[in-house]
Amino acid sequence: MAYEYILTETEDGVAKLTINRPKQLNALNKQTIKELHKALASAEADSSVRVITITGSGEKAFVAGADIVEFSDFSVEQGSELAAQGQSLLFDFIENLSKPVVGIINGYALGGGLELAMSCHIRIASNNALMGLPETSLGLIPGYGGTQRLTQLAGKGKAFEMIFTAKMMNAEEALACGLVNQVVSQDDLLEAVQKMTKAIKKNSPQAQSAAIKAINAGVYGEGYSQEIKSFGEAFGTSDFTEGTSAFLEKRKPNF
Ligand code: CAA
Repeated sequence: MAYEYILTETEDGVAKLTINRPKQLNALNKQTIKELHKALASAEADSSVRVITITGSGEKAFVAGADIVEFSDFSVEQGSELAAQGQSLLFDFIENLSKPVVGIINGYALGGGLELAMSCHIRIASNNALMGLPETSLGLIPGYGGTQRLTQLAGKGKAFEMIFTAKMMNAEEALACGLVNQVVSQDDLLEAVQKMTKAIKKNSPQAQSAAIKAINAGVYGEGYSQEIKSFGEAFGTSDFTEGTSAFLEKRKPNF
């Protein structure tokens, strides 16, 4: 099937998905989310696929977040709908997929981009990667599961710090706090991913599916629905208007 914003390739049991909007730093608009959902569902249904990888095209970014241009005039209802749809079509969908998914963080992974990486089961980053949840600089909170998954991976203190300060973290810091599994140089990234997918392919797919279910069963709670509610409510605030206007006007917000 032909996609507009993603590239797909399957080789040796590995389905490779690449988000391909390099001019927008691979920002996730609604169409990209739908296309990723379709490609993931077809990889899951394809019995020759054992592992799925997700990365961003170009040298600069994995994904620089949800598409700010697309949601800048959204209402509270549209904001909630954006988060709920995104989580069900993509972020929760990946986390609960029956096959292992590896995120390859090859540059900026910000906002929805880091949330996408965090919904993957394993993350490998290149040493130039920069990660962050800058939503509070836009008058928002993370809306694609970031408040929950960052807390699970890196702990509550790191989650508060990253969300309050909106600062980016480099790959070594991300490794130290458990946000990524492995960091390698840009040149070694593909080889590291190959080693990881090869190691995964040696073991039982049925047992791996069961492990995904068991690990996820322990971490689900009310947090995801509270995040959708709070994300939507943020669209009704003056801080959201100021934050997104500042981004679009290429200036610093004045909160
Ligand atoms: N949405 C839409 N467009 C984006 C984008 C985004 N998230 N991130 C970057 N772009 C666009 C820029 O607007 C720019 O477009 P033009 O060339 O048409 O002006 C292009 O990509 C290149 O970006 P920059 O010129 O800004 O590149 P830079 O190297 O100077 O800066 C950056 C790179 C630091 C990543 C900067 O682009 C940036 O801060 N991006 C926004 C990051 C962000 O706030 N992400 C969170 C989004 S909110 C979210 O994700 C909500 C959620 O949880 C659901």
